[in-house]
Amino acid sequence: MKISIIGLGYVGLVTGICFCEHGHKVTCVEKNQKKISDLNKQKEIIYEPGLKNLLQKHLNRNFTVTDNVKKAILNTDISFIAVGTPFKNGKFNASYLKSAAKDIGSSLKHKKKYHVVVVKSTVLPGTTDTLIKKCIEKYSGKKSGKHFGLSMNPEFLREGEAINDFIKSDRIIIGSDTKKTQLLVKKVYKNFKKVPILMTNNKTAELIKYTSNSLLANLISFSNEISNIGDKIGDINFDQVLKGVSLDRRITTKVNNKLVTPGLVSYLEPGCGFGGSCFPKDVKSLSYLASKLKSDNLILKSILKTNEKQVDKLYKIILKNTPSSKKNILILGLAFKPDTDDIRESPSIKLIKKLLKNNKNMIEVYDPVALNNTKKIFKSKLTYSNNLRKSLLNKDVIVVMTKWKIFKNLNNILPKNSKSLIIDPRRFLNSKKFKKYLAFGIS
Ligand code: UGA
Repeated sequence: MKISIIGLGYVGLVTGICFCEHGHKVTCVEKNQKKISDLNKQKEIIYEPGLKNLLQKHLNRNFTVTDNVKKAILNTDISFIAVGTPFKNGKFNASYLKSAAKDIGSSLKHKKKYHVVVVKSTVLPGTTDTLIKKCIEKYSGKKSGKHFGLSMNPEFLREGEAINDFIKSDRIIIGSDTKKTQLLVKKVYKNFKKVPILMTNNKTAELIKYTSNSLLANLISFSNEISNIGDKIGDINFDQVLKGVSLDRRITTKVNNKLVTPGLVSYLEPGCGFGGSCFPKDVKSLSYLASKLKSDNLILKSILKTNEKQVDKLYKIILKNTPSSKKNILILGLAFKPDTDDIRESPSIKLIKKLLKNNKNMIEVYDPVALNNTKKIFKSKLTYSNNLRKSLLNKDVIVVMTKWKIFKNLNNILPKNSKSLIIDPRRFLNSKKFKKYLAFGIS
């Protein structure tokens, strides 16, 4: 099929390139000329394992990038909107969505054939059937359901694993306004054999996405809260608590006589809180919608509050355990999780901002891929290290913020006479290998 995608962000790029893997021809529309020229020069505009190879395979063959939205819409059967939906100034911000819907509408004005518009962006329930519909109808002069169809098809891509998550999708949710639209969207996914497909209306598809992310964020905050209680009780190993809880037959099941624990359980591991471009934004957006609808959202609010407090807890631990006023601190891991250079809402960035409030603190940072993004925020306020081994020298505190594989055996590269206190909120390292070690959830 011929597909156009509006927005060359994380979701648009990964979705587009993966559709090519499934035999489709994709045109991606982007307004930012630098992004287009960088991509055409095969530059990695985002760091995502596996993406480079797929770009080499499809770029300027099945996958093209353009700034000409009209041409893209006229020459394709179906368009996906994959623009950002940030949460800004206490509100869900639909400005990029409106602009995309306006561009699509203005282009559809010149098209005779039926066209389907699919919302891939995470949008508040009701957005596709109201805002998007009205905008396209206004600028195209056409009627939804008659001249064009509307669908909502959320993405479930984890950064760092996005290619695999798409190619081997666990589910396909297709919200749609009419049977005709539904069938056309289903056709896009016809090669996704054995993947469960759930057909819903647009609003339900929109809420499925928010519920999925809020559930995972909820698990993280719940576990952080309970493990903090354990830390206060003292002499508790939260990994054992979690193991004991997970052995519940309703969580861990026996398959061919082997115990199988669902992946969901890893979201119950306590740490320094969740981050990234999705969980914080989506929980805030759903809570915002609930408040607007005068519906209670006490849990959603608590998920966010508890999350903020994890960084405060870490900050206080650093202060308490390094009494000198001038501290030499090393932060290992800057992105919100390993295998990505995305530092949006990263607990590391929040911690650094707090630590910088005392200008006597000397902060050095290391991350295999996220240094450049961090430099854009902190400029000369930090020391940026490209050498993990060297960065470990002469530090009062070393905080391991993300579970990058290269940090796993830190004990092997830490100088023998090191006096550094290792703080490992995610309990990633082997505690026994360090003289001075602190973690969350083991007291
Ligand atoms: C998340 C969801 O997992 C995806 O299903 C969804 O499509 C995506 O948001 C989105 O809305 O676009 P992502 O934010 O990339 O994906 O990454 P996750 O791996 O889920 O991590 C989110 C947060 O949970 C991170 O702060 C991470 O540290 C934490 N996490 C992740 C855990 O605490 N435990 C884990 O096992 C995995």
